[in-house]
Amino acid sequence: MAPSKMKAAVTCAEPGKVEVREIDVPKPGPTDVLVKVVAAASNPTDWKTITWSPTTGNVVGMDFAGTVDEIGSEVPAGKFKVGDRVAGMVHGAAFPNGAYAEYVTAPSSLLLPLPETWSFEQGAQLGVAGYTACLCLYHAQSLPSPLSPTKDPIDLLVWGGSSSVGQYVIQLAHLGGLRVLATSSPKNFPLLKSLGADLVFSYADPEAPEKIREATGGKLAHAVDCISEKDTPDNVARSIGDAGGEVSVLLKYDSRRPDVKVNHVLGYFLLGKDLEIPMKLPLDVAQYNFGPQAAKILTETLANGTLKPGPIKIIPNGLEGVSVGLDYLKEGKASGEKVIYRIADTP
Ligand SMILES: NC(=O)c1ccc[n+]([C@@H]2O[C@H](COP(=O)([O-])OP(=O)(O)OC[C@H]3O[C@@H](n4cnc5c(N)ncnc54)[C@H](OP(=O)(O)O)[C@@H]3O)[C@@H](O)[C@H]2O)c1
Repeated sequence: MAPSKMKAAVTCAEPGKVEVREIDVPKPGPTDVLVKVVAAASNPTDWKTITWSPTTGNVVGMDFAGTVDEIGSEVPAGKFKVGDRVAGMVHGAAFPNGAYAEYVTAPSSLLLPLPETWSFEQGAQLGVAGYTACLCLYHAQSLPSPLSPTKDPIDLLVWGGSSSVGQYVIQLAHLGGLRVLATSSPKNFPLLKSLGADLVFSYADPEAPEKIREATGGKLAHAVDCISEKDTPDNVARSIGDAGGEVSVLLKYDSRRPDVKVNHVLGYFLLGKDLEIPMKLPLDVAQYNFGPQAAKILTETLANGTLKPGPIKIIPNGLEGVSVGLDYLKEGKASGEKVIYRIADTP
């Protein structure tokens, strides 16, 4: 049973920073679950949101792992019980409810049972990256999933394979039977290969697109641009084969080629609300409706042991370390790792 008050890292007068305050423990709605947070993870959207859409008193953070504390009255009976280990995602920095807190209330439909083989710290990386990877592969494109792997030779390019989302795109695509080509810094090639990448390329190599075209016989038709800014839209477009194809993108941009379709995904839509923060956007109902399918793919690959955690970097001092972790991401220092906080480390 949760107490009435808790510590949380909330938005404050200084844009881009958080402040640890004592606030009310959120109440779960009928279809929600209250989770006692053990570990939380940072995403680039956390620092972007609190810099671009400053508010005060909203709890920051989207990704969390912990134990079930209280179950909403309309959550299907038997789906969860108090004490279950779970991971999930919520909309951070927009409400007095978020991942950087001792308790978070989250939609039960997106809550993932966390296997014993995953620590809470590893589990905190699952929500945003895992769900966004599913949106890229199975909603924005209709690629074969681990639940029905293909035997056909299908190539997929993952540009930015060492990013948080890229690591799950590689794993899921590999489990779905695709041949995966991925880019990163050379120091992260062993990581990409351990996740299931078949061929790896340095994104800093100006000839990488030509090398990818050569490796795919000029027939590449599917790509996920996990970075979606600076030179990556051009490089991905150059890699796609002569007959054109489809690219899933994380930040909205226009296609560089008339024969290449660009499909933008947004993990926020899985939460089923119009967006006010960090930007105003009406709900994309189709992306929202895809949520249960993504939850099934992630739940089954977690349960059968095929989905593996990526590397993590634990920032000291729990909630008091959040500003340090967000600066680390903002400065582009995260390389093939997820930034994590242990709530119990908060002084
Ligand atoms: N639309 C959505 O729903 C959604 C969801 C999640 C994230 N995003 C956005 O997607 C972007 C990535 O987020 P994330 O959390 O996955 O990233 P992240 O883990 O913070 O990304 C860090 C990685 O990016 C790689 N990288 C940097 N520049 C690159 C380039 N030019 N080409 C290839 N790789 C490059 C680095 O590779 P090396 O270390 O190997 O050099 C590093 O490992 C952010 O802009 C984020 O806001 C959008």
